[in-house]
Amino acid sequence: VDKVKLLDQRRLPAEELYLETRDYHDVIEAIRTLAIRGAPAIGVAAAMGAALGALSLDTRDGKEFQSRFQDICREIAAARPTAVNLFWALDRVLLVAQEHADESVDAIKAHLVTEAQTMLKEDDTTNRRMAQAGQVLIRDGQRVLTHCNTGALATGAYGTALGVLRAAWEAGKRFSVWVDETRPLLQGARLTTWELGKLGIPYTLIPDGAAATLMHQGKVDLVILGADRIAANGDTANKIGTYSVAVLAHHHGIPFYVAAPLSTFDFSIPDGDHIPVEERDAEEVTHLWGQSVAPAGAPALNLAFDVTPHDFIAGIVTEKGIMEPPFTSSLKPYRPAQG
Ligand code: MRU
Repeated sequence: VDKVKLLDQRRLPAEELYLETRDYHDVIEAIRTLAIRGAPAIGVAAAMGAALGALSLDTRDGKEFQSRFQDICREIAAARPTAVNLFWALDRVLLVAQEHADESVDAIKAHLVTEAQTMLKEDDTTNRRMAQAGQVLIRDGQRVLTHCNTGALATGAYGTALGVLRAAWEAGKRFSVWVDETRPLLQGARLTTWELGKLGIPYTLIPDGAAATLMHQGKVDLVILGADRIAANGDTANKIGTYSVAVLAHHHGIPFYVAAPLSTFDFSIPDGDHIPVEERDAEEVTHLWGQSVAPAGAPALNLAFDVTPHDFIAGIVTEKGIMEPPFTSSLKPYRPAQG
């Protein structure tokens, strides 16, 4: 297996176009430009990119291979800064390379390919466990609000927050979903609607600014969304606009849940102030599909993520069950020994 195939999410929902490549630089570009996006999907793509990179190395010398492989992983790590799954995945493949350092270069390459494939399969299992754990939160007749995209597109398969909704739907519960459009790149409008439509789950697309009014009118019963990095105390980085939804939910007494696998937790940082927030090109805000929607040269700020303080979060759905506040205690059994 020497190529990576991925659905180009920039084209959705208009076109279902697959990118296929043998060059790890293309995987970096796909992550950077959001052809592939969503924290768990970025992690799997990074591992696959690293495997492609390893396959491209022409040396038979073990030491040289290790050092060039580390350079490749560093290059991939620079693709995007916030989703910790990227670094989690690269640490994992680097460890595999080191653990097999006394074997032939060809054997190490084979181990790296297998590891990347294992990570894809594991992500599917993890998401299904998370979905089963979380679906108890969903009740018949609820109107659930979500932000950004957390479905199969954003993961190896199945989805995180959308996975929870999917499992609830498959269990026979009937509910509907408010989908935040998620400016500026419209992951809600383009991707979440597309996925919910395929699953047959009823939804209504809303502009991000409509959530307050819907909550005031008593039309939102629960919020569930994903995460890109969760600090040891439960502070959660997710798509820009998530924090606003959390504050609104708190104000209106609506439960606000996060769904994320343990690979999205960063136990090395005590709180959300330590999470690097990606700032993307201002043009993503001033333009839509290449068309300017602001005066030429209008200054714009494009922070891709925000951090929701842990005290706005009612629970975090993981593959190990629903973590409840205080998160430092509920997460304790899952902290790596050195973390
Ligand atoms: O910039 P993106 O589209 O990669 O941001 C994605 C999100 O913020 C998702 O909510 C998060 O990664 C969870 S995906 C299961």
